[in-house]
Amino acid sequence: MATLPFMSFVVMLLLFSTQISSDTDIITQFHSLHDGTTNTLVNGTFELGFFSPGSSTNRYVGIWFKNIPIKTVVWVANRDHPISDKSGILSINKEGNLVLFSKNGTTHWSTNITTKSSTSSFIARLLGTGNLVLNDEKENNGYDVYLWQSFDYPTDTFLPGMKVGWNLTSGLNRRLTAWNNWDDPSSGQITYGLIRSDIPETKIQNGSLVLYRSGPYNGLRFGATQKLKHVPLFILNFFYKKDEYYFTYQPRNQSILSRFVINQTVSALQVLKWTEGKQRWMLHSNIPRDECDNYNRCSSFGICGMMGKSSTCECLSGFTPKSPQNWKVKDRSEGCVRSENWSCREKNKDGFIKFQNMKVPNTKISWINRSMTLEKCKTKCWENCSCTAYANSNIIEDGSGCILWFSDLLDLRQLPDSGQDLYVRSHTSEIANRDGSRKMVAVVTSTTSLIIVMLLLFTILFCWRRKVKSKSREEIGIMKTTIKKSEGEQEDMELPSFDFGRIAFATNDFSKNNKLGEGGFGPVYRGTLPDGQDIAVKRLSHSSKQGTKEFKNEVIFCSKLQHRNLVKVLGFCIEEEEKLLIYEYMPNKSLDFFLFDSSRSKFLDWSKRFDIIGGIARGILYLHQDSRLRVIHRDLKAGNILLDNDMSPKIADFGLARMCGGDQIQGNTDIVVGTYGYMAPEYAIDGIFSIKSDVYSFGILLLEIISGKKNKGLSYSNHNYNLVSHAWRLWKECIPMEFMDTCLEEGSYISSEVLRCIHIGLLCVQHHPNDRPTMTSVLVMLTSENTLPHPKEPIFLIEKVSDGKESTSGHEMYNLTNEESRSILEPR
Ligand SMILES: *[C@@H]1O[C@H](CO)[C@@H](O)[C@H](O)[C@H]1NC(C)=O
Ligand SMILES: *[C@@H]1O[C@H](CO)[C@@H](O)[C@H](O)[C@H]1NC(C)=O
Ligand SMILES: *[C@@H]1O[C@H](CO)[C@@H](O)[C@H](O)[C@H]1NC(C)=O
Ligand SMILES: *[C@@H]1O[C@H](CO)[C@@H](O)[C@H](O)[C@H]1NC(C)=O
Ligand SMILES: *[C@@H]1O[C@H](CO)[C@@H](O)[C@H](O)[C@H]1NC(C)=O
Ligand SMILES: *[C@@H]1O[C@H](CO)[C@@H](O)[C@H](O)[C@H]1NC(C)=O
Ligand SMILES: *[C@@H]1O[C@H](CO)[C@@H](O)[C@H](O)[C@H]1NC(C)=O
Ligand SMILES: *[C@@H]1O[C@H](CO)[C@@H](O)[C@H](O)[C@H]1NC(C)=O
Ligand SMILES: *[C@@H]1O[C@H](CO)[C@@H](O)[C@H](O)[C@H]1NC(C)=O
Ligand SMILES: *[C@@H]1O[C@H](CO)[C@@H](O)[C@H](O)[C@H]1NC(C)=O
Repeated sequence: MATLPFMSFVVMLLLFSTQISSDTDIITQFHSLHDGTTNTLVNGTFELGFFSPGSSTNRYVGIWFKNIPIKTVVWVANRDHPISDKSGILSINKEGNLVLFSKNGTTHWSTNITTKSSTSSFIARLLGTGNLVLNDEKENNGYDVYLWQSFDYPTDTFLPGMKVGWNLTSGLNRRLTAWNNWDDPSSGQITYGLIRSDIPETKIQNGSLVLYRSGPYNGLRFGATQKLKHVPLFILNFFYKKDEYYFTYQPRNQSILSRFVINQTVSALQVLKWTEGKQRWMLHSNIPRDECDNYNRCSSFGICGMMGKSSTCECLSGFTPKSPQNWKVKDRSEGCVRSENWSCREKNKDGFIKFQNMKVPNTKISWINRSMTLEKCKTKCWENCSCTAYANSNIIEDGSGCILWFSDLLDLRQLPDSGQDLYVRSHTSEIANRDGSRKMVAVVTSTTSLIIVMLLLFTILFCWRRKVKSKSREEIGIMKTTIKKSEGEQEDMELPSFDFGRIAFATNDFSKNNKLGEGGFGPVYRGTLPDGQDIAVKRLSHSSKQGTKEFKNEVIFCSKLQHRNLVKVLGFCIEEEEKLLIYEYMPNKSLDFFLFDSSRSKFLDWSKRFDIIGGIARGILYLHQDSRLRVIHRDLKAGNILLDNDMSPKIADFGLARMCGGDQIQGNTDIVVGTYGYMAPEYAIDGIFSIKSDVYSFGILLLEIISGKKNKGLSYSNHNYNLVSHAWRLWKECIPMEFMDTCLEEGSYISSEVLRCIHIGLLCVQHHPNDRPTMTSVLVMLTSENTLPHPKEPIFLIEKVSDGKESTSGHEMYNLTNEESRSILEPR
C-alpha cells in the first residue's frame, strides 16, 4: 500500500455519524468533543473543513495544508456544486455515504457508493497523507481497505501516495482537473492524466486538445522528461499491470512538503515544494518546460530542437517540407513529407535511419510487444509498408521490447542527455546524400558506416540475444534479461539495473538506522522497494578503482553464480561515483548474530549446525569448482554467512573480492582484503591466496560453529591461545568433546559427527596450504565414515604474526575490516 509510510504520521478519526456544520470552518475542532483521539489531529499535515476560495463567498468542503500560512487547497469535495451560504453539513448517512447537504435538504455532494448493510458503523478519517477515507468499522479487515477514498477522485493536486492512472476493471480514471479560476474550483478544461492505451503516457489537455504529451514510460522515466538529478526531490514510479496502470511519486525527504498541481493560468503542470525559510511555495519544475514541449510543434515528420530559448523545426532525414514556402516563413502546420523516389522494401530505397536522444512520436497509431528484440522489431516494421518507425519500449540496459509506429510521426523532439534511439523508415540513399553538418540530430552519415554499424549490431545481437519478460510483479520498471551464451546454451539470467534515486529512497537515503553492517567492501543497508520487496544494499566503497564496464561485467558474472547456498544478487546500480549491489534480504541476519550470543545460540541445535556446515561447504565448493573461473571468496566469516527463514546458510559477498581487489584469482596481492582471525597465514602475511586460503577460513568457521566461540585471533580466554590452539590442545589431550559449545546439551548431538567436524576443522587450518583438503574432499569427509588423515599441528598465528611483522615490514596496504584485525599491526 503506497500510503503505508505515512500511516504512522497520523490517523485522524472523524465523523462517527457526527454532523459537522460549516459555522466552524475546521472540522478537527469538533473532534475534541468526542473520543480520546483528539490529539492526533494536532500533528496532521492536513486539515479538512469548509472554505471559500479567493474572493468567492461560495462554501466548499476541502482539504488543505495545515500549519502553512498560505492556504493551499489540495482537494475539493463539491467543486461543481457550491453551497451559497454557511448552512452546509457534512455527515455520514445511514447507507454509509458521506453526504454534504445544506439546510433546506439539497444534497451538494455525496460519495455515492453502494454499501452492503445499514447495520454497519461507518467511519471517516483524514489520514496524514491528506487522504479522506471511509471505512466500515465492523468489517474487520483493517483500516487499509477503503469503501471510498478522496485519493481516487483528485481535483487539481497530486500528492505523495496518490495514484494517477487507470483501474481498468472499474474504468476509474484518476486524473487531475484544473480549477476554472482561482476563485472557482469547479472543473476546468485543463486536465492531466494517463491516456488509456497499451502504451500509456501522460498528457496535458485542454478539453480534447492535447497541449503536451510525456512520451511512454521507457523503464526509467516518461520519455520526454529529463534525467533526474543525482539527488532528486522525488521519485516517480510507474506501474503497468494487467488491470491497472498508474504512477505515484514519493518525496525523497518526507519532511519536505511538495505537490504537483495543474495551474490553469499557464496551462501547465507544476511541481512545487514548500520552503520553510522563505515561507512560500517554490516552483521546482514546470511542464511544458519549453517551446518544444508543446504538442506537435513541428507537425508530421518534423523534429523540434531548442536553440537557446527558442525552438526550431527540421524535417527528418529523407523528408522535405510539404510546403517549402510556408516552411520558410515558419508555418510548420503542414509538416514534412517523404522525399520522392522512396519505394517500400525496394533495395537501396528503403531502410531505417537511427536518431538518437529522441522523444518518441505520438503512440496513437502504434503497436507494442514488450518482449520482442530490436532485431525482430526491425523485421516486423520492414514487412509492413505502413510502418514508419520502430524503437525499444524499454531502454534499461541495452534496451528491449518493441514499439512500431504506423502513419505520420507526430510530436518529435530532440532531448540532449535523455530520450532514446528511434529508427525511422527512410530513403537510404538519402543517407549518403545528406549534408551531415546541417543536421541537428545525430545521423549515421554514410552507407558504409551504416553497413558496419548494422554488421556490428547483427554480431552483437547474434551473441547477445536478449529476451525480455516483464517481471512477475508486472512492474515494468525492472526487467529481466536473458543472455544467450555463445556456446549456444541458454541461461536464464536476471540483471536488473536499479535507479540510484529509487535505492536511496528505499534505504531512507542510506540512513544509519537502515545500516545492517559493514563488510570489507563497504556498508550494507536494509531497504524496501516501493512494491514492498525487502532488499539488502551493499554500497561499495569508493576505493574500488574499477571502471563501470568491468563492474557491470562482474555483476553479470555474479548473477550467474546461482546456488542455494549463495545469496541471490537481485541487481545493481551504477551512477557516477556510486556502485551498489542489491541482494535479497535475509530476515534472520547472519550466523554470528546467533552463534556468538549466549541466548540466541540455543536456537542452533547440533542438527541445525551440522546442516549449516554442510550448506556452507557446498556453497564454497560451487564457487571453487563449478564456475569456469574459480571464485575465491577471500572473506569467509560468520558475518558473511546469512540465514534464510529456514536457517539455511547463504554465503554473501562472493565475487566481491574479484570486483574490488583486482583481477587475479590466484596469486599475490598487495591489498589484503579479509578479516583477521579467518585469514590463512600465507594470505595474511604474504598476501598469497588460493582456494586453500578459503579452506582455511572454512576451517575456522567450522571450529566456531562447533564451539560457539569467536576466533579472536590474538588471544583466547586471556590465555595465549586462540581458538585453533585451544582445539588442538584438547585434541592432543584426547578430550576433544570439551571443545563443544556448552549450550548444547549432552544427548542432543551425535558425538561421532561432532568429532568428525572437529577433525575436519583441524585438517582445514593446517599451516601448509597443500596439507589442507580441497572442498570436494571436505564434503566427502563430512558425509562418509572413512577414516581421516591425522591433522598436523597448526602453527599458531600468534607466533607467526610476530615473525611476519618483521618479515613484511615493507608491506603496508592492509585493508582489514575490524578492530581486532587492526590491533595486530600495532605494537602491544
Ligand atoms: C501527536 O501529538 C501528541 C502530542 O501533541 C502526541 O502525544 C502523539 O503521540 C502524536 N501522535 C503522532 C501519531 O505522532
Ligand atoms: C436549497 O438551497 C439551494 C442553495 O443552497 C438552492 O439552489 C435550492 O433551490 C434550494 N432548494 C429548495 C428546495 O429550496
Ligand atoms: C451514483 O451512482 C449511480 C450508480 O452507481 C449513478 O447512476 C448515479 O448517477 C450516481 N449519482 C451521482 C450524483 O453521481
Ligand atoms: C479496480 O476496481 C475494481 C472494481 O471496482 C476493484 O474490485 C479493484 O479492487 C480495483 N483494483 C485496484 C487495483 O484498485
Ligand atoms: C482551451 O480551449 C478553448 C477552446 O476550445 C479556448 O477558448 C481556451 O482559451 C483554451 N484554454 C487554454 C488555457 O488554452
Ligand atoms: C530533510 O529536510 C529537512 C528540512 O529541510 C532537513 O532538516 C533534513 O536534514 C532533511 N533530511 C535529509 C535526510 O536530507
Ligand atoms: C500559476 O503559475 C504562474 C506562473 O508560474 C505563477 O506565477 C502563479 O503564481 C501560479 N498560480 C498559483 C496559484 O500557483
Ligand atoms: C527521383 O528519381 C529520378 C529518376 O529516377 C531522378 O531524376 C530524381 O532526381 C529523383 N528525385 C530525388 C528527389 O531524388
Ligand atoms: C511478442 O514477441 C514475442 C517474441 O518475439 C513473441 O513470442 C510473442 O508471441 C509476441 N506477442 C505478441 C502479442 O505478438
Ligand atoms: C500493417 O499494419 C497495419 C496497422 O497495424 C495493419 O492494419 C495492416 O493490416 C498491416 N499490413 C500488413 C500487410 O500486414
